[in-house]
Order: sequence, then C-alpha cells, then structure tokens
Amino acid sequence: MDKSIDWGSLSFKYMNADYNIRCYYRDGKWGELEVSSSDQINIHMASTCLHYGQEAFEGLKAFRGRDGKIRVFRMEENAKRLQRTSDGILMAKLPVDKFCEAVRKVVKLNERFVPPYESGCSLYIRPLLIGISPRVGVGPSDEYLFMIFVMPVGPYFKDGFKATPVVILRQYDRAAPLGTGTFKVGGNYAASLVAGAKGHEMGYSAVLYLDAKEKKYVDECGPANFFGIKDNKYITPKSTSILPSITNMSLQQLAEDMGMTVERRQIPEEELATFEEAGECGTAAVVSPIAKIDDIDENRSYVYSTDGVPGPVCTKFYNKLRAIQYGDEPDVHNWVTIIE
Ligand code: PLP
Ligand code: COI
Repeated sequence: MDKSIDWGSLSFKYMNADYNIRCYYRDGKWGELEVSSSDQINIHMASTCLHYGQEAFEGLKAFRGRDGKIRVFRMEENAKRLQRTSDGILMAKLPVDKFCEAVRKVVKLNERFVPPYESGCSLYIRPLLIGISPRVGVGPSDEYLFMIFVMPVGPYFKDGFKATPVVILRQYDRAAPLGTGTFKVGGNYAASLVAGAKGHEMGYSAVLYLDAKEKKYVDECGPANFFGIKDNKYITPKSTSILPSITNMSLQQLAEDMGMTVERRQIPEEELATFEEAGECGTAAVVSPIAKIDDIDENRSYVYSTDGVPGPVCTKFYNKLRAIQYGDEPDVHNWVTIIE
C-alpha cells in the first residue's frame, strides 16, 4: 500500500496510478493486452470517437478487505454491459474474458493504490472503448482502442453517506425514450452537463430526470439510478431511457433477501409523495439517500429527511452492500472476484 497517499482526504478525482491497460482492435480482431505507464494516448484527429461519439465507458470498483484481500465487484456484468453498449453504437465487442483479464491485470499492477480497509475507500476502475479510425462521413470505425485506468476514490458526493437534496429541472432531458439512455456512452453525460451545473449552482447534489416524452415518470439521476421505499417495497423505474445499473440490480436482490417486495415499473411523479425513503444507487454513488426532491418549475417538494440523516432502509442497504464488497459478509450471490 502506498504510504504517501492521504486516504482520508480522497474524493472522486482523477489521480494517476502506475499503469493502465490498452488493447487494440485491428483487422477485425482484438490484439494482446498492453501495459502502459503513460496516461496519454495518441489518436487520429478524425477518429470517430471525437466526432461522432463512438465512445463508451464503464465503472466498477475494487475493495481491500479486513483480510487484506482485494475484491472486485461484479465485473462480468460490466463486461456484458459494455458489449450491449458496443452493439448500441456499432462498436467492436470486447470478449467478456478479455475484459475480466484486463481488470484483474490492471488492479494487480496498481495494487498499491487500493486503499486500506479502514479508510472505507476503494479503487475505481474505469474501462473505456473508443473508435479510432479516421472518418469524416458519419459511420462506425474499423479500429477500436479499449483501455482501463484506475484511481483510488472516496465518496462521490462530498458529504459521504448523508441524505442530500436533488432537483427536477423540467427544461432539460438526459436521454430520448428510444435513444442511447440505456447505453453507457459519453453523449448521455454531455447531455446532462448544463442541467447538472445548474443543479449544483442551486445547491443540489444531482438532477433527477423525468421521462423525456411525457415528463410524467421518474427516470434516473445524472450519475445514478433512482429507488423509492414504501410499505416494505423496493420500487425502481422501468424505462427505456435509463442505464441498467448493476448496483440497482444488486439492491433488488438484497431487498428480496431481506423479505421486501421488488417492483420495477413506471413511477409517476406524484408517487414520490408516498415514499418513506428515496435514494440513488450506482458504483460511484453506492447508496446515496435523498433528503428531498424539488420540482421547482411546478413548485412541489417531496421530503424524506430534514436533518440529512439517512433513513433506516437506505442505511441497511448501504451497510449490506459494503459488507459484501469488503468481504465482511459471505458473498452468497457470487458477486465478488478475489484478485490473486
Ligand atoms: N445511471 C447512470 C446514468 C450512471 O452513470 C451510473 C453509473 O454507472 C448508474 C446509473 C449506476 O450504474 P452502476 O450501478 O452499474 O454503476
Ligand atoms: C459510475 O458510477 O461508475 C459512474 O460511471 C457514474 C459517474 C461517475 C458518471
């Protein structure tokens, strides 16, 4: 472990680690995994990733347990989602095995950046895939570059595990109903930047998007999925414009394990008034409880916590998920890969 890093002050910011992984797709096939110690890449200025958004990324984490072992959470799911995204924007698909091999390798090579158990921090793993053939007419690339870099991270929201306010800004959409919302492509995040900045300026931790067509149903937050809790039920949106979150999938399983009923369906905005708790979930966000949701254009507010204290169900989910990730509790669903 690196003694020079102040683990206690980590947030979610780029930090250069020792090594990253690269793998090229050329002449219709994937090459070998390459290790680099440079954080720069050299690509053609007419690359399709730069002009037509042929770019996809993933996000997953590695955790150091009390036993010193390093565990990666559900990496095959990230590999499969990258494949789905690749199909969604006509990119070459990286085999799942190759993705997992690259994750293992990059974590192992950067082992000293995996934070100590006591810090409560983790190693964020950021795979990305870009089209690198020069193309000026709109069309997919022939050649692709897959990369993974890593960095140690603390909480995504600066207050850590605390309930924070989110906002509905009706003049912005993140993704069209049949657009790229279910794929993890950079364009979705570009589309969320103005609304996100506006929300932050107004003191909110995130924007909660409604469905773009009817502005009637809850979709998701800028960087995370949404869930609501009531009557021992875990309720999360079904929508054609949200990212299928691996954390959300895991919470649905944990909710069932805890004897809750899981409902994945449309959530009309009015239903927000009936939830006992609400939260965001994602790799970076983990479980982030929502203090209140302000629909400012409609002058409505839904309040779940007045003092920032997370509700009991959000707390239970947060503790359970982290216990599995850090190896404090048995991995009964086989979600964790130990890096040897
Ligand atoms: N929704 C969006 C828009 C995201 O960027 C993320 C982050 O990856 C999520 C949801 C959560 O997905 P996951 O739990 O797979 O990290
Ligand atoms: C993640 O949770 O991994 C994300 O990608 C969210 C965000 C940093 C865009």
